[in-house]
Amino acid sequence: MATQHTPDTFSHEKIETNNFLMILLIILVVSVGGLVEIVPLFFQKSTTEAVAGLKPYTPLQLAGRDVYIREGCYNCHSQMVRPFRAETLRYGHYSVAGEFVYDHPFQWGSKRTGPDLHRVGGRYSDEWHRVHLINPRDVVPESNMPAYPWLATAPLKPEELAPKMKALRKVGVPYTDEEIEGAAEAVKGKTELDAVVAYLQVLGTALK
Ligand code: HEC
Repeated sequence: MATQHTPDTFSHEKIETNNFLMILLIILVVSVGGLVEIVPLFFQKSTTEAVAGLKPYTPLQLAGRDVYIREGCYNCHSQMVRPFRAETLRYGHYSVAGEFVYDHPFQWGSKRTGPDLHRVGGRYSDEWHRVHLINPRDVVPESNMPAYPWLATAPLKPEELAPKMKALRKVGVPYTDEEIEGAAEAVKGKTELDAVVAYLQVLGTALK
């Protein structure tokens, strides 16, 4: 017996045989589902408030972060320790949202050719990082990380820091006027290598 059709009612067959309607309704359902999941995060304290002890990057660390981004370190390194035993045993406490509130943009990443770097702060000496960045093979013979020898001789441009800090202040990083005024002085004479090392050494150290 053939199926009975009642043309006036809104049947599922109508949706499934109409591309346009199907796409429209999928978009509607996905957006509602997405909004319900995402919007509350903007208002939850655990995702919007800095963890106790989190400080905005110093001018030197901030300059180092920009070198990190420019050199594409994120193509091989994530900064997000996931809450799995294998990860916490290797790297330390898993990352929490409140540690990243001053990161614009965050460097979580998703590619791990090298190890995660979120808890690397304080793990090695400054000197280890210098040698490692100039030529990784000098300290880790089997390493396939590229060498970045030019960082050691590239001077920072002190005048670039204040405008960056002002821009970050607009999106909520609590820099004071004194910090912004003193920024150029704080990085005077420093190299890009000094900056990257300072940045690496503060990563993940706010959470006690
Ligand atoms: C092509 C991939 C690749 C890129 C790009 C890369 N790394 Fe690496 N990195 C690795 C690998 C692989 C290791 C592990 C071997 C080693 O320690 O050298 C590593 C290790 C490290 C370590 C030691 C981590 C630990 O816990 O032992 C640091 C720090 C580091 N990289 C920083 C950087 C920085 C900063 C940059 C950008 C200037 C960078 N890496 C770019 C692949 C990469």
